[in-house]
Amino acid sequence: MAKKSPLQELIDGLQEDLSREYQAIIAYTVYSNVLTGAQWMNIAAELKKHAHEELEHALIIADQLDYLGAMPNAKPKEVKLSKNPRTCCASIWTMRPTRSRPIASA
Ligand SMILES: [Fe+2]
Repeated sequence: MAKKSPLQELIDGLQEDLSREYQAIIAYTVYSNVLTGAQWMNIAAELKKHAHEELEHALIIADQLDYLGAMPNAKPKEVKLSKNPRTCCASIWTMRPTRSRPIASA
């Protein structure tokens, strides 16, 4: 297998990032509606705010891909769906492998 050029590696990495941004947009949009009830209100509001931020990130990455001569992909990473608010919150931590998990309180 031929080695990828540095440009192609950059494009592939940006495509991967774009798929993760799409995943976050979808997950935060859906989860913000699954999290109902007083105890989840603040988190649901935060997720809606973050859904907007993830769209901004996706647009920036898509522009970068276009600049590099690549067509932005249209494939989100898989979003795990659940009607259980705790499952939704837990899956947010699995969406990004580089994100640090919060330290459990004692
Ligand atoms: Fe993002």
